[in-house]
Amino acid sequence: MSFPHHHLLGIKQLSRQDIEAILERAAHYAQTNRSPQKKTDRLAGKIVVNMFFENSTRTRTSFEIAAKRLSADVINFNTAVSSMNKGETFGDTLSMINSTHADACVIRHPQAGMVEEATRYFQGAVINAGDGAGAHPTQALLDALTVQRHKGTLEGLTIAICGDIKHSRVARSNALLWKLFGSQVRFFAPEGFTFPEETNKDLGIIPCSTIDEAIDKADVVMMLRVQNERLEQGETHLDPAMYNESYGLNHDRLRRAKKDVIVMHPAPMNRGVEITSALADDPQYSVIFEQMEMGVAVRMACLDLFINN
Ligand code: NCD
Repeated sequence: MSFPHHHLLGIKQLSRQDIEAILERAAHYAQTNRSPQKKTDRLAGKIVVNMFFENSTRTRTSFEIAAKRLSADVINFNTAVSSMNKGETFGDTLSMINSTHADACVIRHPQAGMVEEATRYFQGAVINAGDGAGAHPTQALLDALTVQRHKGTLEGLTIAICGDIKHSRVARSNALLWKLFGSQVRFFAPEGFTFPEETNKDLGIIPCSTIDEAIDKADVVMMLRVQNERLEQGETHLDPAMYNESYGLNHDRLRRAKKDVIVMHPAPMNRGVEITSALADDPQYSVIFEQMEMGVAVRMACLDLFINN
């Protein structure tokens, strides 16, 4: 069966069946990535252009490694010195890349909706690597793969997502994904960092008023950083020590969750703020570094399926 999509814009555009197909292929790549012969020729002869209009090292590196493992050639388009700074429009920049017949653009952009906008100008596969507070589909997919490895299922779980929900494309994409599998998502955010009630309703999540309530008997606890770079006018930075005390995750708090709970974080994490260092490094609970490993496998699966569809 061929894969039914050409672009990866968000979880919203995918069905449960699409997600299962991506995760199945990603699980295969996760295995080969641990073997001595990691490289395949699935994308030999193809060109992938990374366009990161927002600072990112981990996600860009992860996509670059993924493309290279599949034998694609990778171009890192330098957005800092691009002609866009000389007044060229986003559309013209994408049209220029389109004229080169590149096979895929992996795009991160500070503004929600701009990755979708790119599909008007670029005919190859467009892959969303995070657009503002919009969507971050490969993060939700790598989170799902990590959970599946530990829980053996994606169904019937309780997932607590805690932190700066308001600015988080990770929270939004995760909520959409877990809904498709009938798992329950709870959100906890400090005051001023929540989604509007309408959004919570649309996403089908359960809002909680304390972190303790959110993690009570949870199977998975996902912590988010305060995205200071996305704070809008009038929103204030919170004191890190106060944040840790009131909203941070530590071993003591985690006792409310299920015994076999796993702790996740999309990274970059602020140790001692949203999570204690001791917990982030505790192999009994923390799967944070495994998430990064699964990120490469999931991005390989996405590049493979969306480019070769
Ligand atoms: C996340 C992002 O960029 O949305 N990080 C990531 O993809 N590695 C979360 C974050 O920035 O806090």
